[in-house]
Amino acid sequence: MECRVFGTRTQAERELAVEVAELVRVRPDAVLGLATGNTPTGLYRELARMHRDEGLDFASVRTFNLDEYCGLTPDHPRAFRRWMREHFFDPAGIPAANTGFPDVGENVGAPGASDRIDPCADFERAIRDAGGIDLLVLGIGRNGHVAFNEPGSERASRTRRVELHPWTRADAAAAFGGLDRVPTHAITMGIATILEARRLRVLAFGPEKRALVARTLAATADPDWPASQLHGHPDLRLLVDRSAAG
Ligand code: GLP
Repeated sequence: MECRVFGTRTQAERELAVEVAELVRVRPDAVLGLATGNTPTGLYRELARMHRDEGLDFASVRTFNLDEYCGLTPDHPRAFRRWMREHFFDPAGIPAANTGFPDVGENVGAPGASDRIDPCADFERAIRDAGGIDLLVLGIGRNGHVAFNEPGSERASRTRRVELHPWTRADAAAAFGGLDRVPTHAITMGIATILEARRLRVLAFGPEKRALVARTLAATADPDWPASQLHGHPDLRLLVDRSAAG
């Protein structure tokens, strides 16, 4: 896993924004895989600035988000779909029709749910029909999760409904206004789905990510540390600031 250390978070965000911009200029209908969370906010801000000030055109870009909570309406203040619209899609001029999210309809993937229509398989098919993901942006959760692939996730896992880890729910409690309001389940791209993206770019900033970065670099294919399952991808890069590098 290649790891690049930057003096500041802003420099890392700028580096990745330039890479995304080059991809989009060469390939206006590029397919991006996108994460939510605090980590990619500066990247999205910089890309939106490039759209505004430099005419970077995202009108034909397709996007697929890594995950979504189950049980929230698309307009729920904490729904990733809404978060992405506010932080990236609207300011960067990405049409809603070009954005893909796992369908989190009530019974998706639940035991006993109809397997006649499988929204998880639909999501995988939509990614394939778009030609696959050119560049996918990832963060790392406190327990090593990538997207919502919690500890125990298999390298062969595909898009599916998962139960959220207690730490993941605890970390989201403040944003939801209480632990009891945090959804218990989500739909996430699987590790195998993520590994099919042509470029993987993992971001980690701040001292609280230092131990996470160390463990991600040290472990290989440890199901208890999902980020380590990315090792072996042919175009994988970790971009960290000095405080996360330690
Ligand atoms: C969330 C998301 C991940 C994200 C991670 C880290 O639960 N599902 O995609 O990378 O947590 O979040 P943050 O960037 O806020 O530390």
